[in-house]
Amino acid sequence: MSIVDKTSLQLPKENLEAQDFLPLLGTDYIELYVGNAKQAAHYYMSAWGFQPLAYAGLETGLKDRVSYVLQQDKIRIVLTSPLNSGGEINEHINAHGDGVKIIALWVDNAAKSFEETTNRGAEPYYAPKVVKDDDGEVVLSGICTYGETKHVFVERKNYKGAFLPGFKAWNPHYKPTSTGLKYVDHMVGNVGWNEMNKWCKFYEEVMGFAQLVSFDDKDISTEYTALMSKVMSNGNGRIKFPINEPAEGRKKSQIEEYIQFYNGAGVQHIALATDNIIETVTALKNRGVEFLTVPQSYYSEVLNRVGEIDEDLEPLSELGILIDRDDEGYLLQIFTKPILDRPTMFIEIIQRKGAKSFGKGNFKALFESIEREQALRGTL
Ligand code: FE2
Repeated sequence: MSIVDKTSLQLPKENLEAQDFLPLLGTDYIELYVGNAKQAAHYYMSAWGFQPLAYAGLETGLKDRVSYVLQQDKIRIVLTSPLNSGGEINEHINAHGDGVKIIALWVDNAAKSFEETTNRGAEPYYAPKVVKDDDGEVVLSGICTYGETKHVFVERKNYKGAFLPGFKAWNPHYKPTSTGLKYVDHMVGNVGWNEMNKWCKFYEEVMGFAQLVSFDDKDISTEYTALMSKVMSNGNGRIKFPINEPAEGRKKSQIEEYIQFYNGAGVQHIALATDNIIETVTALKNRGVEFLTVPQSYYSEVLNRVGEIDEDLEPLSELGILIDRDDEGYLLQIFTKPILDRPTMFIEIIQRKGAKSFGKGNFKALFESIEREQALRGTL
């Protein structure tokens, strides 16, 4: 009997044989640039059950920015706001609204990660640097990806502080209960017309990822709108980045709406895994998180499509949780409405019960739901 890592994927043999020149241990953190980090932190704690972890700002010697770091199990998010007018963070917020700036990847060697990727054509974000405080040292380096999004490589084996040097542990009185979110399952990028292949090639050639699956506009289309998607994964399967581009339809694609309001390519959704989606979604709803809904007719047909499942159908249909099956098992998933003012980023909650896919069987019902929301916004 062999023990299989839950997050690993069975890649085709040729991919396993490819040398992993960029071993990734996992997602280290996700940093969003936001208009008001203090209040955003409260939202992610009160609504999502994240715990306070670390803080950097005027009190720690920063002059131009403030960052709050939150954690729930293996998921770490950083919320950063500028303290003055002008500058790079303000420009980012002005262009994109609140959004993901950095997808940080946990590595054993940040200098080598930088060298391997920039040698293969990555545009540098910043060269390797050592940052230190009393708790040890961390090596950081960064490269650019789609839009203004960046990847930062984090080497933290010689560090025992709360988050990164320069941050102090943040221990406020308010510590909400968890909602059962465990780890980042995948993070999806939206890119512009005809750019999907370019960015898949980037992940393949520059970062050593392999393509898991692709969906064309016939898989992902409704009466009105369409998109195309390819899923890129690193060697050990811990990092999965689906990349979407719009496709021609009778009305405006949801990807086009995103690109218009985000003002370019960027992170469309973050999928967070739970071991009990019914409990997690019930808690999130009670705390004010709003989810997309599907018509009840979805549930009268779904078991014919996916076969037997462990859960009762009733709570799933009450909550609007979607079900899909592949060769290896099934999955349960649900999507929030956009969580920011602009109709850009949203969150997916996913529970995998064997399935390693992404819910292809739900695309049509899901996209019709998104279109109903787009119609309300006048952007369909
Ligand atoms: Fe997803």
